[in-house]
Amino acid sequence: MRPPGEILIGEREIRDRVASIARELSDALQADLRREGHGVDVPGRVIFIPVLSGAIVFFADLIRQLPVTMSTEMVSVSSYRGATTASLGVSVVGALPDDLAGKHIVIVDDILDTGRTLGLLKKEIGAQKPASLRICVLLRKERDRDVPVEADITGFDIPDVFIVGYGLDYDGHYRNLRDIRLLEEAGDA
Ligand code: IMP
Ligand code: MG
Repeated sequence: MRPPGEILIGEREIRDRVASIARELSDALQADLRREGHGVDVPGRVIFIPVLSGAIVFFADLIRQLPVTMSTEMVSVSSYRGATTASLGVSVVGALPDDLAGKHIVIVDDILDTGRTLGLLKKEIGAQKPASLRICVLLRKERDRDVPVEADITGFDIPDVFIVGYGLDYDGHYRNLRDIRLLEEAGDA
């Protein structure tokens, strides 16, 4: 088992950035709603969709800072090895919400890595013709993407290293760490 190592992004830095992401998102959503003649308290217009399971901690902190009436839907995406050229190497687990047409959608994920997960979700959800579709990620790895997809809002750019904590796991562990940490090589500790 590889243990968590050095802190890459500390708890306070995460908290401050999540607060600024919440302000940025609520300004953008408020502008969309105002254009439609609504206030932020209109029901049924805004849907937040976290990608399970990595996004759960970020999502919980983020939505509690958004003074916008919203509903939430969860999605889960699994990746598999030996992907054929016809597939993205990821698939949606279960059914996607199917009533997103005309709504303001925000997909929330922990990290943009290969781009496969968010590339798939953007395509599938975008096909339902939402009024707006934003991708919000806490982290973005600096690397080439297998699937080209951009986040509309990014918390932090990080190098191409494996990290854990604040929702991100290694073999199911460490999601509950309050900081984002590098993972040590086996045998380092
Ligand atoms: P994708 O490669 O962009 O499709 O990202 C897929 C998922 O891999 C992310 O949502 C994370 O859950 C997971 N992931 C990618 N990089 C890391 C990491 O450094 N630590 C933990 N999980 C990661
Ligand atoms: Mg994930």
